[in-house]
Amino acid sequence: MELCFATNNAHKLEEVAAALGNAFPLRTLREIGCADELPETTGTIPGNSHQKARYVFDHFDVACFADDTGLEVDALNGEPGVDSAYYAGEPRDNERNKALLLKNLDGEPNRRAQFRSVFTLVYRTDSGEVVEQQFEGIVAGTILTAPRGEGGFGYDPLFMPDGYTQTFGELPLSEKNKISHRARALEGLVAYLRGV
Ligand code: IMP
Repeated sequence: MELCFATNNAHKLEEVAAALGNAFPLRTLREIGCADELPETTGTIPGNSHQKARYVFDHFDVACFADDTGLEVDALNGEPGVDSAYYAGEPRDNERNKALLLKNLDGEPNRRAQFRSVFTLVYRTDSGEVVEQQFEGIVAGTILTAPRGEGGFGYDPLFMPDGYTQTFGELPLSEKNKISHRARALEGLVAYLRGV
């Protein structure tokens, strides 16, 4: 099955293409002719993941999947969560998001956090039935008091996964891809696709 990955994020595309290997050829939004801003208005990570996949399926009639991800910080009652991309407001700015996170955790001893990723797959079976499936992946860790590393994207330089002494910004992409929230959610997706 040819699949569109409904994202405009080149980092995610690279991560997911590496995880899928050659088994499932990926089409990008550009390749299917979609230049639209995908809607993300449900207020939850699973809801936004579903909304994006369903938008592409409904408007472009292609088998597709979308992800939505958030960083959930225990001491901030799960924030920034679904608002991770716009934590410091519009326009979307990773540097300001990271600075705000550090400010909100200033002096806070509890640095526990997790990345949560939900993938939603939408496709039509040979008999015409529309199928929707969701896959979740979580990686737990801690938020440092200052960024470390230039790799990855988003909050990566602030996040040290449990069992590691390097942040996601310091670990090679190949290592991050073995343990990340997206990798874990993708494992579920790939296992499912193999069975379709
Ligand atoms: P979205 O899934 O593209 O909506 O991502 C939401 C926010 O979480 C963005 O600000 C990203 O920077 C951040 N984010 C998503 N995935 C990762 C990741 O793997 N590492 C660090 N930040 C991430």
